[in-house]
This record gives sequence, C-alpha cells and structure tokens, in this order.
Amino acid sequence: MRTIQVTSSSGEYTVSIGRGLLDSLSSRLQKLPGKERKRIFVLTSPEIWSLWGGRFRAALGTEEPTVLFLPAGERYKRFAEVERLATEMVSAGADRSSLLIAFGGGVIGDVGGFLAAIYMRGIEYVQMPTTFLSQVDSSVGGKTGVNLRTGKNLIGSFHHPLAVYADVDLLGTLAQRELRAGLYESVKAGLIRDAALFRYFEANLPLIDGRDNAAIEKIVAASVRMKAEVVGLDERETGLRMILNFGHTMGHAIEATSGFGVLLHGEAIAWGMLVALAISTSRKWLKPEDGLRAERVIRHFQPPPPPALRPESLLAAASKDKKNRGDQRRFVLLKGIGKAVVTEDVTDAELLAALHTVLQPETAAEQRRSKKRTR
Ligand SMILES: NC(=O)c1ccc[n+]([C@@H]2O[C@H](COP(=O)([O-])OP(=O)(O)OC[C@H]3O[C@@H](n4cnc5c(N)ncnc54)[C@H](O)[C@@H]3O)[C@@H](O)[C@H]2O)c1
Ligand SMILES: [Zn+2]
Repeated sequence: MRTIQVTSSSGEYTVSIGRGLLDSLSSRLQKLPGKERKRIFVLTSPEIWSLWGGRFRAALGTEEPTVLFLPAGERYKRFAEVERLATEMVSAGADRSSLLIAFGGGVIGDVGGFLAAIYMRGIEYVQMPTTFLSQVDSSVGGKTGVNLRTGKNLIGSFHHPLAVYADVDLLGTLAQRELRAGLYESVKAGLIRDAALFRYFEANLPLIDGRDNAAIEKIVAASVRMKAEVVGLDERETGLRMILNFGHTMGHAIEATSGFGVLLHGEAIAWGMLVALAISTSRKWLKPEDGLRAERVIRHFQPPPPPALRPESLLAAASKDKKNRGDQRRFVLLKGIGKAVVTEDVTDAELLAALHTVLQPETAAEQRRSKKRTR
C-alpha cells in the first residue's frame, strides 16, 4: 500500500492506494482523526452496491451503515438529487456527528462530497473511489458539486474528505472502456508534470493493457501524487492548478458538441490533448519527436473517434469554456514532456489549424498540398 499526504486549507489528509483497503475499512475508520462519530452513511449506486455491497457490509461488521442510493449516470448529478438525499438523511437520523462515505465513481464522489459540504452546514466524509478516473482524479482536490442544465459543475463547493481509500481491487469489475477513459487522465498527469510517469507508460503498455495490479497501483499512486502536489500549492486554482486542465479546453468542447454521453470524459480529453500537442509542436515549444511519443501513448489506448464535428463549431464551443477569463482563451500547452505552461494567446487560426490536423487529417493534408500547388 502507498500513502500520499494532501495539504489543504482545512488540514492534512491521507490518500491510501493499494489492495484490500475495503476489507480493512472498519479499523481504518476507527483511526481517523476528529470527533466521535455516531452513525455511518454510505452513498453509492445500485450497480456498485450489487457488486461490492456484501464485502462492504462484511468489512464494517456490527456497525450497520445506512445506505443511500443515487442511480448511475451523469444526469443524476444534480441539485434535486442532493435535496432528496439530504431529506433521506434527516429521516434516517443523520446529525452533525455522522460520517458519509462516498462509495462509487466521480459522480458519487462529487455528489457525496457536495452533500457532506452542505448537510447541516457541513459534515465529515470519506472518499472510497471505485473507478480509475475517480481514484486518480476526482477524489483528490476537494472539488465537489453538481451540474445545472446549462452546464457541468456549475454549482459546488470545496470540501476535503477526512481520507481517501483507493482500493485498486475495486477496479476489477470496471468495464475496459471506463478504465481506458480514466487512463488518459494519468497520461495527462505524466505529460504535464511527471516525465517519469510518462516514461513508465511508454515502457509498460502491455502490462497496463493486461490490467496488471502492480502497474495499475503504481500509476494511480503517481497520478495522485502529482495532483496532490499541485493542489497543495494552489488549492483554489488561481495559478498552477490550471495545468490540470491540459487537454480540457478542447476536450470539454468536443464532449459537449458530440452530445454528452457519446464520448466518455477521458476520451474527449484524449482528443483535446492531441489538439494541445499539435499546437505545442507547431509553436516549436515541444520537439516533434516528443510530440510523437505523447501521441503514440494516447493513440495506443484507441480513443473512439468523435462524431464528425466542424472545427468551427468546436471553436465556438471552446470560447464558452468557464475557465476563460474575459475574452482571453486559457490554454495549457507543453514545453516538453512533464513541462506544462498556461498561455492566453492561442489564436483562433492556430486552434483551427490544430483541430483540422487532429480531427480531419486528410482534409488538412489536402489543404497543405493544394497550397503548395498554387505557390
Ligand atoms: N471533483 C473533481 O475534481 C473531478 C475531477 C474529474 C472528474 N470529476 C467528475 O467525475 C465524474 C466522472 O466520474 P467517473 O468517470 O468515475 O464516472 P461515473 O461515476 O459515472 O462512473 C462510471 C460508471 O462506472 C460504474 N462503476 C463505478 N465503479 C465501478 C466498479 N468498481 N465496477 C463496475 N462499475 C463501476 C458507475 O456505476 C458508472 O456507470 C464527472 O461527473 C466529472 O465531472 C470530478
Ligand atoms: Zn478531466
């Protein structure tokens, strides 16, 4: 097992990564710092509970938790569900000494964290992430919240958990597509700040494809370490934390324009990273050979092609990104593998050219050829 400390404005907490963490949950909870806890509430989804609920209950022994359910899917990450869950908690007798365990993927983690942040003005909670994406990304950093009809994650709060238990055994039942989608966030972690993690990917693709436990654990730990470091230095995203959005400006635009649910978040980010890489190499900030190395690892996991999208529509969607400041477009580029920089001067023309290269390579090549012919 590996442990990583996260420093936040509300104190320090530990992320534990390894196997068998679910089975030892009871003794882990007993060792948590803080006040005496009377009751345990678990927020999960019916499908996760049917797979792992038995083990969960057995791990807690005589301490019977109250189980709250949120159906699976991004569309349940909304205010109305938070209100329903809070009402159920009141009926079940939850008070300020109760502990909530968010047991699921990023949706459960975000909703559970938000519920804990506002229930009786805040109760303590623990993250027990069950998807690769939630283990490497959403369970760390304290961002919690729900979507509005008009956009993702528009309502929320910073509320850090008391602890995060990332049990890699739980990933055993995760669909291959979900695993791969999460892996892109780890590839991102390597590309923006951890060249050794990126080299590990390059050297161990067959092991990763085979879902080797030791490899998965190592990747989860390195990704969490990177995020914990960045969040520790810039919790509220006023500077450094923005690098975590590498691939996300175009990724979000591709995700939204494709229609939510067509591509998984991580898959859209894979395409967004390819666009950011194309701009980084065309600016000569990134050496062509490093650009190719990054592209090779991303494409190895075969992100499903996005539906035919017009680069112009994507450009319009990217201009609406909430990470933009005023008229300027915030963009994360690479100056090397493991070296991300935030820029605000990416032009529409640059972005369109990169979108054509990545999403419509044939058309882009044809345009280059006809330019040569007319010269
Ligand atoms: N708070 C943050 O900092 C942050 C960061 C990144 C993403 N997010 C959020 O995370 C969410 C996406 O999270 P996600 O990718 O984990 O998706 P998800 O929570 O929707 O889970 C994906 C699917 O996997 C199923 N599942 C979960 N664990 C399983 C297991 N062990 N075995 C079998 N099936 C399992 C779920 O029921 C669901 O159907 C988005 O809402 C996104 O906004 C938040
Ligand atoms: Zn992401």
